[in-house]
Amino acid sequence: MSLKNRLKTTFEFSKNIFTTGAFYETSRKVELEVCTHLPQGDNKVIVEYGMGHGNISKEILNHISPTSKLYAFEVKKEFCEHVRETIDDDRLIIINDGAQNMSKYIDGDVHGFVGTIPFSFFSKEMAKQIIQDSYNKLVSGGYYTQALYTKFNYKKFVGIFDNCKLKRIMGIPIEYVYHCQKT
Ligand SMILES: C[S@@+](CC[C@H](N)C(=O)[O-])C[C@H]1O[C@@H](n2cnc3c(N)ncnc32)[C@H](O)[C@@H]1O
Repeated sequence: MSLKNRLKTTFEFSKNIFTTGAFYETSRKVELEVCTHLPQGDNKVIVEYGMGHGNISKEILNHISPTSKLYAFEVKKEFCEHVRETIDDDRLIIINDGAQNMSKYIDGDVHGFVGTIPFSFFSKEMAKQIIQDSYNKLVSGGYYTQALYTKFNYKKFVGIFDNCKLKRIMGIPIEYVYHCQKT
């Protein structure tokens, strides 16, 4: 990403800090780490929560097959418009709504979830509902991978998923990636 676009993203994220929960996009290391458990093969359905300006969406699209689909949820209309203008890929379906409404849009099974939504800003009930709904939609063996700046929400995932791993990504700031599997 160019310096101009990076500065634009930082400005937009900071301006909307109570929605984004971050001043910057996640690091390159995290963009790659959240893609390590994505499903391979044809006709997979992947769901992203918190698309932002689409940095992780791009990486997911690089990792999945040509016949798979990525449903990306984002509450900020301006961010959805930005991604519509900057990513031209038929596999990407942008949904301008919250992760808490995922089940209204996705009928069948989901093969993988990737999230960067700010769980620390959600009520306990909404956080648990998002995690439980995602678990219910996920196929056996599939992963929900979530990146956050703290490990405080890890317990909520451990309470619902069958097999969880916490990875610390060193940098400024430190980032955490939760890899949670439904067995
Ligand atoms: C920390 S930013 C991450 C953006 C980008 N994916 C990245 O990795 O840099 C979190 C994003 O989640 C969005 N968001 C906040 N609450 C949400 C919700 N309930 N459902 C979907 N997106 C949400 C914010 O608008 C913001 O774009």
